[in-house]
Amino acid sequence: MNVLIVYCHPEPGSFNAALKSVAQEELERQGHTVAVSDLYAEGFDPVEGPAHYSQRQRPDYFSALTEQRSASDQERLPSEVAREIARLERADLVILQFPLWWHAQPAMLKGWFDRVVVYGGLYTGRCRYDAGYFLGRRAICSVTTGAPASAFGPGGRGGNIERLMWPIHYSLYYMGFTVLPPFLSHGIQGGGLSYQAEAGFQAHLGRLKQDWTKRLAQLDCDEPLRFNGWADWNEDGSMCRQPH
Ligand SMILES: Cc1cc2nc3c(=O)[nH]c(=O)nc-3n(C[C@H](O)[C@H](O)[C@H](O)COP(=O)(O)O)c2cc1C
Repeated sequence: MNVLIVYCHPEPGSFNAALKSVAQEELERQGHTVAVSDLYAEGFDPVEGPAHYSQRQRPDYFSALTEQRSASDQERLPSEVAREIARLERADLVILQFPLWWHAQPAMLKGWFDRVVVYGGLYTGRCRYDAGYFLGRRAICSVTTGAPASAFGPGGRGGNIERLMWPIHYSLYYMGFTVLPPFLSHGIQGGGLSYQAEAGFQAHLGRLKQDWTKRLAQLDCDEPLRFNGWADWNEDGSMCRQPH
């Protein structure tokens, strides 16, 4: 299969970079083809706005949705957006590798969604959710956090991780992806910030790399996350059946 790793971290020596390399090596060892979108290294601009559209559909008023749809229809999307879409279209599996920053993905990755998932091209009113563009493809988030695992349960100090992950998971589902449970690496305080002794910390990182390798070898056994779909909604978007 073809795999795309969307990797979002500014530091090549980071643990996120290490997890990206672990995934690339393991998936290639399994015989898969792996492409990497290295958002920082490639200088991806995550800020959607008028500067990206030289030939505007509406020069008087900037509407991102109008300009995205028009540029997509006329095949004149910004080149880095077209490149990311081409990478996504080739991928059977998409891995998003990022650190938890302010209880969510870094702005760089949020902006990647804002710009790359273009209205008209990758979704429309009916082409969403379980009728989405990427139906049949899988996606998984691999996320590192500074706080320890114990802090991420319901009511925990770090925030309920299921709730923190919900917006990005729902965005992936909106695109049509089958979303696999995330791979979470907790307690990562790299760059000299570690709370524990260096040897223990390195052993912790080593175990997480092994766990990620094992998880990647068993992705076919993963039970996907469940979301409501079109059959669960009334015409006005309200729910007509019990939520998942
Ligand atoms: C801007 C910023 C915000 C952060 N917010 C959180 C947070 O909300 N929760 C958390 O557990 N860690 C948070 N952290 C810590 C990072 O998640 C942690 O440093 C990272 O996962 C470590 O991986 P790395 O060594 O690859 O950077 C934050 C770090 C930064 C720089």
